[in-house]
Amino acid sequence: MQSNKNIAVLGAGTMGHGIAQLYAMSGYQVMLYDIDDAATQRGLVQIQTSLQHFADSGLIEKDTIQGILNNIQLTTSIQEAVSKASIITEAAPEILDLKYKLFQTIEAFASKDAIILSNTSSFAVEVLAQGIQHKNRFLITHFFNPAQIVPLVEIVANQESSPEIVSYIEHVMRVIGKEPVLLQKDKPGFIANRLQAALVREALHLLNEGVADAKSIDTAITAGPGFRWAFIGPLETTDFGGLDIWRNVLNNLSPTLNNADKAPELLDSLVENQHLGIKTGGGIYDYPENSVSQKTVRRDRQFLLLNKLKKEF
Ligand SMILES: NC(=O)c1ccc[n+]([C@@H]2O[C@H](COP(=O)([O-])OP(=O)(O)OC[C@H]3O[C@@H](n4cnc5c(N)ncnc54)[C@H](O)[C@@H]3O)[C@@H](O)[C@H]2O)c1
Repeated sequence: MQSNKNIAVLGAGTMGHGIAQLYAMSGYQVMLYDIDDAATQRGLVQIQTSLQHFADSGLIEKDTIQGILNNIQLTTSIQEAVSKASIITEAAPEILDLKYKLFQTIEAFASKDAIILSNTSSFAVEVLAQGIQHKNRFLITHFFNPAQIVPLVEIVANQESSPEIVSYIEHVMRVIGKEPVLLQKDKPGFIANRLQAALVREALHLLNEGVADAKSIDTAITAGPGFRWAFIGPLETTDFGGLDIWRNVLNNLSPTLNNADKAPELLDSLVENQHLGIKTGGGIYDYPENSVSQKTVRRDRQFLLLNKLKKEF
């Protein structure tokens, strides 16, 4: 197995720029590819801004920023991006044919032992692996947005993935500061998005029913269970509460929980009216002009501080 420090990240968008930043911060040499210069430049600007936030939060020294940026080279040539890489991560759009074509090009130019990782959120690993010739060197590493900050990475191997490579990638994820979780079985939505979807479904159901306003529903999580979850997960929380209590709670509440098999009508009507969230200035909440960038900066600062706190324990 090749283990040089050359990494390729394909796609410099929301996820790719953060993944590239992570590797660069850990001393890897990163080739960041996108389809045109405008896209790679956008990715670079986001990395520069994020590194500044890391420095402002005391997570890195300001005078290390240039060195980290020097570890990143931008390219619009896939061949240049992957030919020397030992690990290639694709963070390209969630379109199956596009990913298959990308895998073909990667395998045409990559070295014979390069490890290929996909950041897919929704495709099953076995479906993606159909587009890969060397399946033993292919895995999913599913990062969370913002990838450079949120610690979790879910790792999903396909049936032919080499156990040695799976262990090696778990190790690399720890080296770049992540908390890897290895799935024993392929499952749509992996672990985190399934749990998150169950909660969001119930939150939208409560909002739709007029049980409380949006702010109250959000506060019920951020000041309640969400406050605990950064350190104690839902299963350990159950142990703390007492399994006898939780058995009663689940027996009493389960019949009343929302179990719809599609998104609620409230979401349909918001989407149809172009209330798509921060990107259109309004979704469940309103986002007046200029408030989006302020909120994003604030969110990233809060996450960085939480990250710092988590590292202390
Ligand atoms: N956004 C999220 O919160 C999130 C979280 C986890 C996983 N993901 C997954 O990560 C992947 C990327 O999502 P994103 O949110 O970064 O998307 P994005 O649209 O922000 O970025 C995708 C980038 O890929 C580039 N691209 C287009 N065609 C390409 C090609 N043929 N080869 C390489 N790059 C190409 C685009 O120019 C763009 O810059 C998807 O598979 C998505 O499901 C997204």
